[in-house]
Amino acid sequence: MIKEFKDKTALITGAASGLGLEFSRRALGLGMNLIMIDIKDDQLQQASMDINHDGNSSPSKIKCYSVDVSSASEMQSLADRIRDQHDTPSLVINNAGVSGGGLVWENSAKDWERVLGVNLMGVINGVRLFTPMMLEAAKRDPNWTGHIVNTASMAGLLTPPNMGIYNVSKHAVVALTETLYQDLALVSDQVTASVLCPYFVPTSINQSFNETHSRKSLNTDESINLLDVATTFSQKIGKEMLDKAVNSGKVSAADVAIKVFDAIVQNQFYIFSHPKSLGNVQERMQAILDNKQPPNPFSKRPEIGEELKAALRSAT
Ligand SMILES: NC(=O)c1ccc[n+]([C@@H]2O[C@H](COP(=O)([O-])OP(=O)(O)OC[C@H]3O[C@@H](n4cnc5c(N)ncnc54)[C@H](O)[C@@H]3O)[C@@H](O)[C@H]2O)c1
Repeated sequence: MIKEFKDKTALITGAASGLGLEFSRRALGLGMNLIMIDIKDDQLQQASMDINHDGNSSPSKIKCYSVDVSSASEMQSLADRIRDQHDTPSLVINNAGVSGGGLVWENSAKDWERVLGVNLMGVINGVRLFTPMMLEAAKRDPNWTGHIVNTASMAGLLTPPNMGIYNVSKHAVVALTETLYQDLALVSDQVTASVLCPYFVPTSINQSFNETHSRKSLNTDESINLLDVATTFSQKIGKEMLDKAVNSGKVSAADVAIKVFDAIVQNQFYIFSHPKSLGNVQERMQAILDNKQPPNPFSKRPEIGEELKAALRSAT
């Protein structure tokens, strides 16, 4: 939907690291004004200085806000500020996310709150607050166009075991974004949406598996302790296996950023970092159509399934 990025505004969450940082670098490289959002304030400031230095852009092109995307009140304050102080973002990338896993019944209420809070409510908050703003801008100007990209995962299209909490959050983001696309098409030809489904890309994602830290919120000056997580045996195994998979990913975050901006110009809905891995999705869909049991998600790499089974059974 957006054909030309220069001088338009992009708002990107989870911008301090990994994919969000590379989306930010790309947006700035394409001449966009940038609003970078992350919960990690220091890392966000550093990231903005790094990308600014790379491209020698004017510092006024970048604005950073420390926001917890899972907090409705912090996101509301952010949206109020965007409305008062910035052009309406033409591009919103709801990308902040955390990792999580373990046998699905072993996740605590806090685990569910944390993973669904960031991965799902974070995206919902972005959609809820920024879509109306974009539709208003579109109404004011028939030439104005906008695009929302939500970061899901291949885990939003598959159900690999020992990471159910993450799968649930990402399936919900796929469903949310498909519906957003359909709903937008009912009311506007100027604003649309895409969903990004990355496979394994080397980033810091797995550090958030059971991370605890404190921060100051956008609304108050007091420090909040975010989380105190206990780790079960299956969560430890899940983290180890994901560490290996993420760190050995061959497609970089910068490669994914190029794909995403190309996909926006081409108005492509599903964006895949690893299109060759879609065979597993086809097997899952076929099993649904054939009314069969969920297929082995490790059919292409059975040794990984065996390793996981052996590791989990060694605990009992
Ligand atoms: N890297 C992969 O292999 C992979 C695969 C599939 C999907 N994804 C998804 O890509 C997105 C980006 O992750 P990444 O791989 O770049 O990881 P990353 O950890 O490098 O970046 C995620 C960023 O989100 C921020 N964040 C976490 N919680 C937040 C909150 N409550 N509010 C605001 N910011 C918050 C983190 O501080 C971090 O800077 C995530 O949604 C992730 O689930 C990643």
